Amino acid sequence: MIPNIALVGFMGCGKTSVGRCLAARTGYDFVDTDDLVAEKAGKPVAEIFSAEGEGAFRVMEREVLQGLVGRKRMILSTGGGLILEPVNREALRRMGIVAWLDADPDLLFERASRSGRRPLLQTDTPKESFHQLLESRIAIYSDTSDFRVDSTALDHTQTAEAILESLGRHPRRFAFDETPA
Ligand code: S3P
Repeated sequence: MIPNIALVGFMGCGKTSVGRCLAARTGYDFVDTDDLVAEKAGKPVAEIFSAEGEGAFRVMEREVLQGLVGRKRMILSTGGGLILEPVNREALRRMGIVAWLDADPDLLFERASRSGRRPLLQTDTPKESFHQLLESRIAIYSDTSDFRVDSTALDHTQTAEAILESLGRHPRRFAFDETPA
């Protein structure tokens, strides 16, 4: 039985939208770590970064994730940098299956910069910052995840389907928990 599915991946890969589709398909709860951090702080993620800095955000992100350990039937959408902390990677792997959502870097950049709200792209050279961060994280997404789904040519629903197919093909075959929550 799959207790939870966690979605990891870089900004702009579609974790939130795909996560909502997956939640609708499976009946599992959609949970977003950025939303929980914003709730805990009483302000949006961008404001946490500007007022308290990235370090304070990372502490809250870790606490929020630890608070979810033990919960079941979640589709967990994670902030793009949550996998940076080893303790978070361990928690994710204990919680269930970890799927890495990936896409062509240019597409990721276009999507990530669209909202204008991503604090780590508020630099003089956002495209360079983006590529540096992406390069530094690819191996971590790969090591943390059970499989990777490339969503470059897929919409959110198709990406959710591709994740469900990958689960079916996974060496440990999985079934969803059908019992009502
Ligand atoms: C971050 C990604 C953001 C958010 C924060 C930091 C990162 O989430 O957690 O701005 O370090 O990549 P998304 O991946 O949902 O944009």
